[in-house]
Amino acid sequence: MWAAVGLLVIFVGTIVLTAANDAVHPPSHIETVDPAALADSPEYGNPAVAVRPDGSVVVSVVTQMYSFSPDPIVVPANRPVTFRVTSADVMHGFEVVGTNANAMAIPGYVSQFTVTFKKPGEYIVGCNEYCGVLHHNMVGKLIVRKESR
Ligand code: CUA
Repeated sequence: MWAAVGLLVIFVGTIVLTAANDAVHPPSHIETVDPAALADSPEYGNPAVAVRPDGSVVVSVVTQMYSFSPDPIVVPANRPVTFRVTSADVMHGFEVVGTNANAMAIPGYVSQFTVTFKKPGEYIVGCNEYCGVLHHNMVGKLIVRKESR
C-alpha cells in the first residue's frame, strides 16, 4: 500500500512541478461578452493593440472562421502583453507557436492571459481547436518588436 501511495505522490508531484516550471496557469478569469454584438462592442468592434497609460499592452483579439483579427498583431518585446481573446462564431484556439501563449477562444467569453515575449521576431498564431473544413487554414502572425522607448 505504501508503494501505491509513493507512486501517487510521485505522479502528482510531477504534474505540479512541470506546471510550475512551464508557467501553466489554470483559467482564472470569467468575463462574458455577447458574441452576436461584437461589431458594436467598443473593444471588439475594431480589435487592436492598445497601450494603456501605465505602459502595459492590451491586445483584443476576435477569432472567427477562419481568421484572427487583428492580423498581424504587433507587440513590444520584454513588456507584459495582456491578450483578451474571444470568438464571433464557434470555439477556436489561440496559440502563439513556440511560446506559452495558448488559450481557447470561446464564443460568449473573454479568455484573458498575460505573456511577456523576450525574443523579437515573427511568430505563427495557430488555431488548435477543430472549427470547420478550413481549420487548417486558420493561421495568423504575431510580430514582437524590439523595445524602443
Ligand atoms: Cu479556428 Cu480551428
